[in-house]
Amino acid sequence: MARILVTGGAGFIGSHISEGLLRRGDEVRILDDLSTGFQRNLDYLRQFGEIEFVKGSVADLETARAAVEDCEVVYHEAALASVPRSVEDPLACDRANVTGTLNMLVAARDSGVKKFIYAASSSAYGDSEVLPKVETMPVVPLSPYAVAKLTGEQYVRIFAKLYDIDTLAIRYFNVFGPRQDPNSPYAAVIPIFVDCILDGKSPTIHGDGLQSRDFTYIDNVVHANLLALDCPRLGGEVINVALGGKITLLELYDAIAEILKTDIRPVHGDPRPGDVKHSQADITRAQQLLGYDGIVDWRTGLVQTIEWYKEFRAQASA
Ligand code: NAD
Ligand code: UD1
Repeated sequence: MARILVTGGAGFIGSHISEGLLRRGDEVRILDDLSTGFQRNLDYLRQFGEIEFVKGSVADLETARAAVEDCEVVYHEAALASVPRSVEDPLACDRANVTGTLNMLVAARDSGVKKFIYAASSSAYGDSEVLPKVETMPVVPLSPYAVAKLTGEQYVRIFAKLYDIDTLAIRYFNVFGPRQDPNSPYAAVIPIFVDCILDGKSPTIHGDGLQSRDFTYIDNVVHANLLALDCPRLGGEVINVALGGKITLLELYDAIAEILKTDIRPVHGDPRPGDVKHSQADITRAQQLLGYDGIVDWRTGLVQTIEWYKEFRAQASA
């Protein structure tokens, strides 16, 4: 049992990692400014154990220092997680995602944190032609978000080399599952599609729909993060965590439509600026370092996610 700080713990991925830790019996503290996260996620977590909640921003060094005090491990999940949002406001993206990450690293180093595990992004790869994407490939970020997440990753890597702190950057590939916000203007594609169909409306596919993603159900991401806790040496490594799949937006839409038994058809709009065309992971390094393998395939995850959205909407309208 360890005391662990999860930044961004009121958000989608951070709340699932917190749940996984609480289920193991760890003590969890959450730092979150509730900018895109929710009090309801914190309320939900309390059924698994006590959590300490610090409301504040990772972009403030003093807040970061207070939050890491007495923690052995930091999961740094807090970020503004949207590509289009970063295209609209690159400065806000930089503050939360670059300054925020450096603050958390400095605070963690100075307070004697042993492990720092960072939510990196597959967006770092950009549009490299070769698939699947391997960690040794050159990176060509296409959006301010991708630049910021990559910069954070580089800080995470060098802190393990320069200071007495062990670190890991996990490049997530399009994670989805319960508690991913469907209502934000910057929501991810699966919650948007499901919500639109449940509203009886046609979702918009940006471009021809032949772009592809390695859609990864959240349980796989939690599994990888928990494996990292038990790994004797992370060494500042960068690893992909996904399933290794390549699902086009058209395939995704058809799968959702089949599960929801709808004949609503999508409409096509312009391609989205800053978008990557294809994203598919090679997960060999995660297998070697952590013993990671996917535990829930994307279709099983999709069925569970859609069930959750139906219940969430039913509760909201009750
Ligand atoms: P999310 O928006 O649900 O969660 C992010 C959380 O961080 C929210 O609770 C938000 O309130 C909090 N936050 C934002 N700025 C903050 C700040 N300055 N100070 C404190 N808290 C702040 O997003 P998510 O999808 O759960 O993403 C979690 C992490 O995973 C992010 O770092 C994101 O970049 C990364 N990531 C996500 C995906 C994905 O597919 N969802 C893929 C790759 C990487
Ligand atoms: C997502 C994550 C990002 C993460 C990255 C890693 C979110 C909001 N973004 O970015 O944090 O770092 O994966 O790979 O979780 N699309 C439509 N119609 C819509 C919405 C989206 O066609 O209504 C398309 C987009 O143009 C894109 C694809 O769906 O081609 C995925 O978009 P999105 O869910 O926003 O994720 P990414 O931009 O890949």
